[in-house]
Amino acid sequence: MELQVSDNGAESWEEVMLIYNAALKQISTKLEILNDEFQHVHKYNPIEHIKYRVKTPKSIVKKLKRHGYESTLENMVKYCNDIAGIRLICDYTSDIYSIADMISNQSDIKIVAIKDYIAHPKDSGYMSYHMIVLIPVYLSDRIVDTKVEIQIRTIAMDFWASLEHKIQYKFPGEVPEHIQAALLQNAKMVSELDARMMELNNEIQKLAGEEGEPEQ
Ligand code: GTP
Ligand code: MG
Repeated sequence: MELQVSDNGAESWEEVMLIYNAALKQISTKLEILNDEFQHVHKYNPIEHIKYRVKTPKSIVKKLKRHGYESTLENMVKYCNDIAGIRLICDYTSDIYSIADMISNQSDIKIVAIKDYIAHPKDSGYMSYHMIVLIPVYLSDRIVDTKVEIQIRTIAMDFWASLEHKIQYKFPGEVPEHIQAALLQNAKMVSELDARMMELNNEIQKLAGEEGEPEQ
């Protein structure tokens, strides 16, 4: 059963947040296990690191307002897809798709939506692979399928996104056009750098393969 908040407000804010926190714990453990297993089989970690956070009440209210919804628990559960958010940072673009596949193959995770901003970057230049998933949270009396936003990106994409996000906050209105243009240009450099590093890695893997398995 998906997380539902009844009109009479039976579900409290605390309970809803407890469920989102549990969903994050559940999914981060799942991903750590997948990463360990991948390391065991392929001698390589696709996930460099994991960050997660529960959205603050202030930004939940701000987002609902931006989309024209009243700040109710019901609207927040229904319309805010990123209350529980997890970010997976990896080395290479190819890792992103391996991780996305591993997540899709988990039988208890339901994929709600996918946005591939790597194949189709946003106008800002933003690149990342987004998945909205439902993960079951086991409570004492029921199982609640809970929405989590997963963002998967390379270290270079994360570097760009973090700095661009900070720049956006420096301007109360729109970011000046010439700065937007420079950011877009830099995003293209990030994409090129990622491609080059991946090529280099493929070359290294080939050479390392010819020389045999490294000592553990
Ligand atoms: P919101 O943008 O959160 O309202 O959600 P949405 O439904 O439009 O989804 P979208 O995929 O556009 O964005 C989801 C999240 O991706 C955002 O909350 C940010 O964390 C991140 N994101 C999207 N666009 C950008 C961007 O241009 N720059 C940066 N730094 N982050 C972005
Ligand atoms: Mg958006």
